[in-house]
Amino acid sequence: MAKLRSDVTDLKFAADGKKRIVWADRDMPVLALIRARFEKQKPLRGLRMGCCMHVTSETANLMRTLTAGGATVALCASNPLSTQDDVAASLVRDFGVPVFARRGESVKVFYDHLNAVIDTRPHITMDDGADLVNTLHTQRQADAGNILASMEETTTGVVRLRAMAAHGLLKFPVIAVNDAKTKHLFDNRYGTGQSTLDGVVRATDTLLAGKRVVIGGYGWCGRGVAMRARGAGAIVTITEVDPLKALEAVMDGFDVRPMIEAAEFGEVFITVTGNKHVLRAEHFRKMRDGTVLCNSGHFDVEIDIPALAKMSKKVVKGVRRHVDEYQISLGKRIYLLAEGRLVNLSAATGHPASVMDMSFATQALAAEWAKKRGRQLTPGVHEVPTEIEDVVAKLKLKAMNVSIDRLTKEQAAYLASSGEGT
Ligand SMILES: NC(=O)c1ccc[n+]([C@@H]2O[C@H](COP(=O)([O-])OP(=O)(O)OC[C@H]3O[C@@H](n4cnc5c(N)ncnc54)[C@H](O)[C@@H]3O)[C@@H](O)[C@H]2O)c1
Repeated sequence: MAKLRSDVTDLKFAADGKKRIVWADRDMPVLALIRARFEKQKPLRGLRMGCCMHVTSETANLMRTLTAGGATVALCASNPLSTQDDVAASLVRDFGVPVFARRGESVKVFYDHLNAVIDTRPHITMDDGADLVNTLHTQRQADAGNILASMEETTTGVVRLRAMAAHGLLKFPVIAVNDAKTKHLFDNRYGTGQSTLDGVVRATDTLLAGKRVVIGGYGWCGRGVAMRARGAGAIVTITEVDPLKALEAVMDGFDVRPMIEAAEFGEVFITVTGNKHVLRAEHFRKMRDGTVLCNSGHFDVEIDIPALAKMSKKVVKGVRRHVDEYQISLGKRIYLLAEGRLVNLSAATGHPASVMDMSFATQALAAEWAKKRGRQLTPGVHEVPTEIEDVVAKLKLKAMNVSIDRLTKEQAAYLASSGEGT
């Protein structure tokens, strides 16, 4: 593909996008503080950054922050269905950020866009799912030498990168932003929890109260979805493969059982495991007429869609926006939301800005930290330094007007000693 300045659906959407970017910014006070400091100090001056993220209003505010810090930034989408076209247009028109993302783009265009970002020869990449890093290690190896470091936003990306590192394949340092407490404790849990249900409700208009909701996976995201589904009155069942997580779900008061059993009574199924084929033919066979399936894990492989299509007599696309009907037999229809892609970003607008404030503040500070270290960082997966986590947590509390106690000198000394008391 020829090098492009930008490739977005239509610049005429920019005015709406700008309004939404500014609206999200109101709820991103920590990122705004970092942006104000970056404006003055320009810590990212001279840096080219290539980002592959969900193109949302919150991401736009991260791009503004990196640019304010002096970086030259190019952005493509980390999922073909999550792009907010108005935001993409505004980033290009109002904020001068080259964007390569069109909502609903084909797989080929998705990869053309990834390559367009790599064509800008970034020093630092920022991924949500490790697609840039993967492309740099497979098809664009000549460009991998430029990379000082990469940032990774999500669990699935970190899992992929750790697998590459374990096989000695990772050629440059990657910072596991997902693993920072300021990210997964809040974004994965509260962000995915709320926005996944938002996606389900926007797509179906279903009443959650009294509904039998089955959640595949009780990790950070699964806990959030389960907590919010219960809050909305749903009767929640959890499926797990990890005995500790399963035990935690039981003690949190959820029904826990294998998917094959849950398949018989579940009305809404939500997968959020980062694994493949969590819902498959043996489960579809047991499901009732009208069952709704969706996924909030990173890739569209958690539901075995080819198997669902194969066992269907007919598939009616778009019976309603974001809903496809799979007719298994006369009287048995299964509804798939958002083509099995992240339902919170495809059928709703993703995580609320307030929670992305912390994830993206961590991203911006981690990028600054990586630039300062330059070539000192060794290839491999690195943790976000605790100082960064502390700064983000303190600033967020301050922005929320929440004060906390400080250790007295006596308490600090007590904790540093071997302790006493009966
Ligand atoms: N929708 C979003 O906006 C969003 C946000 C953050 C993360 N994610 C993605 O969500 C997925 C989960 O992330 P997480 O942070 O919760 O990960 P996690 O590792 O904390 O949790 C995943 C859980 O799934 C369980 N699991 C694995 N295979 C299973 C199976 N076959 N059946 C049942 N359970 C199974 C694991 O035991 C684990 O407890 C990842 O793909 C991640 O990238 C999505």
